[in-house]
Amino acid sequence: MTKISSFSEYQTEYNRSVNDPEGFWAEQADKFTWQKKWNKVLDWNFEDPKMKWFEGGQLNITENCLDRHLAERGDQVAFYWEPNDPSEKNIQLTYKQLHAEVCKFGNVLKNNGAKKGDRICIYMPMVPELAIAVLACARIGAVHSVVFGGFSASALSGRIQDCDCNIVVTSDGAFRGAKAIPMKETVDEALEICPSVKKVIVLERTKTSVQMISGRDVKWKDEMTNAATDCPAEVMDSEDMLFILYTSGSTGKPKGVVHTCGGYMVYTHYSFENVFQYNGGVYWCTADIGWITGHSYIVYAPLLAGATSVIFEGVPTYPDAGRFWQVIDKYKVSTFYTAPTAIRALEAAGLDFVKPYKLDSLKVLGSVGEPINEEAWNWYNENIGKKNCPIVDTWWQTETGGILISPLAGLTKTKPGYATLPLPGIQPILVDDKGNELKGNGVEGNLCIKFPWPSIIRTTFGDHERCKQNYFATYPGLYFTGDGCKRDEDGYYRITGRVDDVMNVSGHRIGTAEVESAINTHIDIVESAVVAYPHDIKGQGIYAYVICTNKNKDHDSLRREILAEVTKVIGPIAKPDKIQIVSGLPKTRSGKIMRRILRKVAEGEMNNLGDISTLLDPAVVEEIKNGAL
Ligand code: WTA
Repeated sequence: MTKISSFSEYQTEYNRSVNDPEGFWAEQADKFTWQKKWNKVLDWNFEDPKMKWFEGGQLNITENCLDRHLAERGDQVAFYWEPNDPSEKNIQLTYKQLHAEVCKFGNVLKNNGAKKGDRICIYMPMVPELAIAVLACARIGAVHSVVFGGFSASALSGRIQDCDCNIVVTSDGAFRGAKAIPMKETVDEALEICPSVKKVIVLERTKTSVQMISGRDVKWKDEMTNAATDCPAEVMDSEDMLFILYTSGSTGKPKGVVHTCGGYMVYTHYSFENVFQYNGGVYWCTADIGWITGHSYIVYAPLLAGATSVIFEGVPTYPDAGRFWQVIDKYKVSTFYTAPTAIRALEAAGLDFVKPYKLDSLKVLGSVGEPINEEAWNWYNENIGKKNCPIVDTWWQTETGGILISPLAGLTKTKPGYATLPLPGIQPILVDDKGNELKGNGVEGNLCIKFPWPSIIRTTFGDHERCKQNYFATYPGLYFTGDGCKRDEDGYYRITGRVDDVMNVSGHRIGTAEVESAINTHIDIVESAVVAYPHDIKGQGIYAYVICTNKNKDHDSLRREILAEVTKVIGPIAKPDKIQIVSGLPKTRSGKIMRRILRKVAEGEMNNLGDISTLLDPAVVEEIKNGAL
C-alpha cells in the first residue's frame, strides 16, 4: 500500500481529503479484502449523531489482519512476546501460527456458546493469548470488551453488566514486575453480581491455584486441545460492532465507546503506516491492550500492515530501569511507541540505565496518551533517539479510534510539545467557550473536529443519548474532544490538556466523579471533591478534599481506608496522591462546588484564587488554603 512520502505530498493528500473525503477514503478502503463492496462511503450528521462508513460493505477484519498475509508472509513473525521476567523464555508467533491460534480459539468460543453479536469480556495480562482472544472474537463476529487488568472486581462487574457479557476470558493471575496479581479471583468476585455470564475461560499463567466452578469455568488449554483449526471468518457488515471499550468521562460511570468494523480497519491502518512511516522492521508499542492504544496500535493496525511487533508483559522498571532499552536491543526494535509518563520515570532513574545499550536499531520514536513536556521530549530525543529519530507526538482518544493529530515521521518538521498537524481526513477547529470559531493562527481554545473520519466513535453502548450529550451537544455540529488546544503561528497544534473533569494520571484517563463516588462509599465521608494537580512523573496527580463526619477519626487511618476504598471500587491506578481533610467545600449559593478554587490550591497557587465573593461561605477557603498539602 502506498504511503505518503514527502511533506508536499502530505499537503496534497490533506487537501484532497478535505475536498473529496468520500473519494479519498474509498481509495484507502479499496486496498483491503472486502467480501462485498460498500454502496455508500459516508452517511453522517453530527446532530443525531449518525456516522456510517462504507455502508453495505461486508468484511471480516481478521481476514485482513491474518489470512490476507498468509501467502506472502506466513512465516514472518507477527508477534514476539517478551515476558515480565527476562529469564523466562520468550515466544514468537508467525502469521501462520497466529492465524491458527485465532481460528482455534474462535472455535473454543463457539463451543462455549458464543454467537455473532454476543459481548465477550476479556480480562487478562499482557500475554499473546490476550491478542489471540481479541482476534478470535472478531473472527466469529462477537464483540470484545477488554477490561484493563488493573481494574478491581467492582469496576469489572460494572463493565460486564453494562454490556451484558456472556463469556469472560481471563487467567489465573498476572506477573507485573516483582508481583503476581490474582485475576481469576477478581473475576469470581465480580461475577457474584453478573448473572449474564455463563462461561469463564481460564488461561494458566502464574500457576496460582484457582477455584474452578463446575459447569461455568473451563481451562484455556483443555479447550484448545479439542478445538478444530478451521474457523471461517464471519461475514460482518461494515457498521457491525467490532468492540466496546470503556472509558472515563467527566460525569457518571465509565461509558462503553463503540467502534465498528469497516471504518476502524481503514483508519487505524492508514494512520499507522503514515504516522510511523512503517517500512518493515520491528515495531514495539508499550501500551497495555486494555487501553485503546493497545487495541489500535498493538493488535489491529500492525497486523493490518503485516508488521512484526513486540508484546511486552512487564513494566519499564523491572528488573531495573533499563528494561525498555534492553528489549529494544534484544529485538532490534526500529519503531518504539510509549507514553510520556514512562519517559519521565526513566529519565528520573538516570542515564546509567541507558548507557549499556546501543539503541542503534531505532528509527522512529512515538509518544502517546498525555501532553509531553519539553524536557521529556528533549531527553527522549537526545538519549534514546540520539538526535537521529523523528519523534511523533500522537494526539488521539479512545473515541477517535486512531491517531488524529501527529507529525508523519521524518516528513513533518517536529517541535517539542506539539502534536503538529492533522492527518489527512481530519478537520480540527478551535472554538471559544461560546462555540465561536477561533480563526487564524496564534489562538487557543477548545479542540473540536468538524467532519467525521472513518474510526470516529459510533455510539456509547446502550445509551446513544449519552454519546450525543457528551461529544456532540456542547458545540452543535461539532465533535468536542474535551481537550484544550493551541494553534501557534505556524498552524501547529499543541494539546494543553483536558478542559473537563477528566484527569490524566500516568496516561490513564480517570474521571473526578468516579473517584469521588468511590471515596464517598467510606462510611465516615459525607462529601468529597477531587481535582488533578501537576505531578513530575505522572503528569497529573490526584488531589482529594474530603469531609469527614467522625470528629474522633484518626487522619492517618482515614487516609489509608480511603485508599483501600478507591482500590476496591476502581483499582490502584485511581488512588489519590494527596488527601486533605476539610470541614467544608467552597460552594456557590446554588450549591455548586467551585473546582477552580480547589484546583488552584492543589496547584499551590494560593494567592491567585480569583473572585470568591460569590461563595456561600468564603471562610472555608482560608481553612483549605491553610491546610493545603
Ligand atoms: C490525552 C489515549 C496531549 C488527551 C490515546 C486526550 C494527549 C486523552 C495526547 C485521551 C498527546 C492523548 N498529547 N494529550 N499526544 N494523547 N492525550 O482515551 O487529553 O486514553 O483527550 O486515549 O489523552 O485518552 P485515551
